[in-house]
Amino acid sequence: MTQPADEKDRTGTHTDPGDQAPADAGAGATGSGYAPENLVILTLCGSLRKASYNRALLLAAGELAPEGLTLEDGPNLGDLPFYNPDIDGDDPPAVATEFRSALRRVDGLIIVSPEYNYGMPAVVKNAIDWASRPVKDPPITGLPTLLLGASGGASGTIRAQLALHHALFTTSTPVLHRPGFHLTFASKKFEDGRLHDEASRELLGKTLKTFGDWIRAGCPVGRDGF
Ligand SMILES: Cc1cc2nc3c(=O)[nH]c(=O)nc-3n(C[C@H](O)[C@H](O)[C@H](O)COP(=O)(O)O)c2cc1C
Repeated sequence: MTQPADEKDRTGTHTDPGDQAPADAGAGATGSGYAPENLVILTLCGSLRKASYNRALLLAAGELAPEGLTLEDGPNLGDLPFYNPDIDGDDPPAVATEFRSALRRVDGLIIVSPEYNYGMPAVVKNAIDWASRPVKDPPITGLPTLLLGASGGASGTIRAQLALHHALFTTSTPVLHRPGFHLTFASKKFEDGRLHDEASRELLGKTLKTFGDWIRAGCPVGRDGF
């Protein structure tokens, strides 16, 4: 069960006891100490391609997510208009409003993205830009986030993930650093849209488990353990 958006405390700084959530309520909670049994995680796919390896990786994540971690589809990033403050006043596009509400409702975020020209695809950056506003209360701030990626070559999207770390640093979004997940040589590891490489499946399952444990622990920063 997740908390309604207006009850969620991602900072652990609320002092009004009326703000305290029940033990089984949603966390999304750096340092808040909430430990919900079931964590709901919004997922974003950075590729719009029909036969996308990253989309297939996201499907595999849905299969391999441990008990207590429920993955929920986020918007198709191609549906979000390019961010423009002129259309983000009192009446932003419905797709952006729904995206922001979803970010506030869930306990975490998974971004599965390819690497485009040593960076993240424009649709991913655009989604972060929408999520980074309103500036007084950005829905992505404090939201525990996991980065996953698949590439056809040897880099496994590592440079795209570095660019994501950079953008998510500015939004004060906690990102799980260890283990990193970078799937290389994708054409050898997927067949008919299914991840069949056993080592990758095992690592993906472990990464998802670590992500849930990390959220429940309040997103600690550290070399060991997480
Ligand atoms: C515009 C563009 C730029 C790309 N740049 C990179 C890159 O910098 N590094 C890389 O490893 N692959 C790059 N690729 C290859 C993609 O990683 C590859 O097409 C991958 O399969 C895309 O992910 P998808 O299968 O989920 O669509 C690029 C592909 C495109 C279309």
